[in-house]
Amino acid sequence: MCVTRSSELPKPGSFRRVQVGGESVLLVRNRDGELRAHINLCRHRGVVLCTEDSGQFNTSIRCPYHGWTFDLNGQLTAAPFMKELPPQTKERHLYSVSVSEWLGYIWVNLDPSAVPLADQLAPMLHKRFGDVDVPGRYGCDELEVAKRETYEVNANWKILFENFCECYHCPTMHPEVCDILPEWRSGYGTVSGPTGPKIEGSKINEKAEGFSLSGRATSAPLPGVPEHDHRTFHGLLLWPNVHLMFIPDHVMCMRFEPLGPAKTRVIVDWLFHPTAVSESGFDPSDAVALVDVTARQDFEACERVQAGAESSYFEEFHTPHESMITDFRRWLGEQLSDGAETSAGATSPQADVIAV
Ligand code: FES
Ligand SMILES: [Fe+2]
Repeated sequence: MCVTRSSELPKPGSFRRVQVGGESVLLVRNRDGELRAHINLCRHRGVVLCTEDSGQFNTSIRCPYHGWTFDLNGQLTAAPFMKELPPQTKERHLYSVSVSEWLGYIWVNLDPSAVPLADQLAPMLHKRFGDVDVPGRYGCDELEVAKRETYEVNANWKILFENFCECYHCPTMHPEVCDILPEWRSGYGTVSGPTGPKIEGSKINEKAEGFSLSGRATSAPLPGVPEHDHRTFHGLLLWPNVHLMFIPDHVMCMRFEPLGPAKTRVIVDWLFHPTAVSESGFDPSDAVALVDVTARQDFEACERVQAGAESSYFEEFHTPHESMITDFRRWLGEQLSDGAETSAGATSPQADVIAV
């Protein structure tokens, strides 16, 4: 799960509390600046250790109930009357989970047997971009969040994610985005198409300069973007909760956080180069407006799907444009089948289930 931006934990002792599924996770930078992720529960009587969203620890995390103290790596270092306590007390360190950084974001996995993030991403990135490291060209680690918008949508997170798996709705629902990316009137975007994802991306129409509501560019193309991509849009979806757009002068990252079976928080970041952000007159609102207007159209449709899903007659029919939804459900089915492997291409029994 992509949970927050790395720059939100800027120095040793910085912490941030995030929700990952049903678990509260405490992200901390230790004294060496390395990232740690601990389950936010004291190992004495299980109280939630930290209730603030973010802040700064000095050198340790102290439980407010009986005063057990853990270092930033989660090791129990002190407890009142330690000498009188049974010897196994000393072993009651915080539970830690795996944490990685990529594209300037922090990614958490609660599964202790999960393979490393890079190995999970490799097949998704290869399917999308072949052997070319397209995300790497945009220098996402160094980009700044010029604008963040948060939306709450009354729909299950999977309904939202599936909406972004297909562009069949684009010609009906998204006139603004189809003006900038005319190819999308075909019902195919860049993540799915008749022969798979569109590796070369979609071209911005020749009258526009950039991906924004007015068609103007916000700033110069990012330094690592090659000239042949100066008018290209690349979309990327990463199971389970990330949607990225790579545009010549910025990157947009949309994350879905389930808040309940029929409620999802969507956090959208618009990332620009720090040099562009510091220029006088920098104004990302035109670029923001295009995604904002389009996302609101999507969210309204998703709320209608959620309402429809509550009918006993609810069913779905998928066109070839929506084949990526099948891929997503196959992946999801594999995750829900208790780690039982299904071979590549096989349809898992749960592939058609919309699970909560
Ligand atoms: S519950 Fe944390 S010290 Fe007792
Ligand atoms: Fe859409």
